[in-house]
Amino acid sequence: MSDTQHPSQRLVERLGIRYPLLQGGMTFGSDGKLVAEVSNAGGLGTLGTFHYRTYDKVMVEVEKIRAATDQPWAVNVPFFENNIELVRELVTQGGVKCFTLGGWFSKEVEELKAEHDLTVLVSVNSPTVARMIEERPYDALIVQGNESGGANNAFTTRQLYDLIAPLATAPVVLAGGQWDGVDLHQALVLGAGGIQLGTRFFFCSDSPLHPSIKEKVLDYNSKRPLTTTLTQVSSTLNLRFIANKAFKKADQSGEITEIFNDKERVFALSAAYAEEQRKPVLLYAGTGVYKLSEMESAAQIVESVAAGYREAAGAELPAFA
Ligand SMILES: Cc1cc2nc3c(=O)[nH]c(=O)nc-3n(C[C@H](O)[C@H](O)[C@H](O)COP(=O)(O)O)c2cc1C
Repeated sequence: MSDTQHPSQRLVERLGIRYPLLQGGMTFGSDGKLVAEVSNAGGLGTLGTFHYRTYDKVMVEVEKIRAATDQPWAVNVPFFENNIELVRELVTQGGVKCFTLGGWFSKEVEELKAEHDLTVLVSVNSPTVARMIEERPYDALIVQGNESGGANNAFTTRQLYDLIAPLATAPVVLAGGQWDGVDLHQALVLGAGGIQLGTRFFFCSDSPLHPSIKEKVLDYNSKRPLTTTLTQVSSTLNLRFIANKAFKKADQSGEITEIFNDKERVFALSAAYAEEQRKPVLLYAGTGVYKLSEMESAAQIVESVAAGYREAAGAELPAFA
């Protein structure tokens, strides 16, 4: 790796992937099937883990990934209690080599990284979190702005990039509101290493979200584009919800805060997303949700981002023109 390389080339070389395109880890939204499809198509698939709750259940998905791809992939472990135990088990028993840590990177992980030659990406949603991990040897930093469907903070993706990139010691990836090849081109012009998509993959045909929910979202969009609302759900967490009837009702009654202050209710909500739903459901998604107009596969998304980049940049990925 040379410092004269564009960060996108450093990113693809470090991760061993074809395109500087990451599929963000999504609790209940990215299982083994989606991860393998993204990785086979040339991006980095990332397994969400929060809703699986145990090492054994995470490993069921890891084995599905291993059976379906020989390309690199990652496991996402967000900030929650006992997360270091999960990482340790995944490394020492499960043989996992690449992680995306959501908002944390402890000394223990640093030791595991050195001992097992791990690749560690860290996603940060505020300059404060970025400062907490600035001494750690991360391989890429993902800045996740409040356009995103995941855990948010006060800053947009571009603001986070401007605040954090000057201090970063490895390629910076933009997450939150990123969608297509034009976004990827703009990110690379800015000096970022690549982009991470959550929402677009969340609603694709390979995700574990039940088809009835995906179809409803496409149907709404065809009539009136869906909007989203950023909401504080607990003292430490903001999420962006689709502004549908279910959201409005739960917001007005205070139910959203009740759910997100009770882990069991969060898990129950996650489980419901895998089942058929006839009515609109309380669902988080990024600002880009209005762009969904047809059902795409994960491979189609990856290829369409690469093709859009080629058109915008007049160059093949990962070369930067
Ligand atoms: C339904 C959903 C669940 C998510 N869960 C997680 C998670 O468990 N851990 C995490 O680090 N990020 C999570 N994210 C954030 C994504 O990894 C990604 O960075 C983000 O969605 C990118 O923004 P976008 O949704 O605008 O594309 C989630 C996002 C969505 C939409």
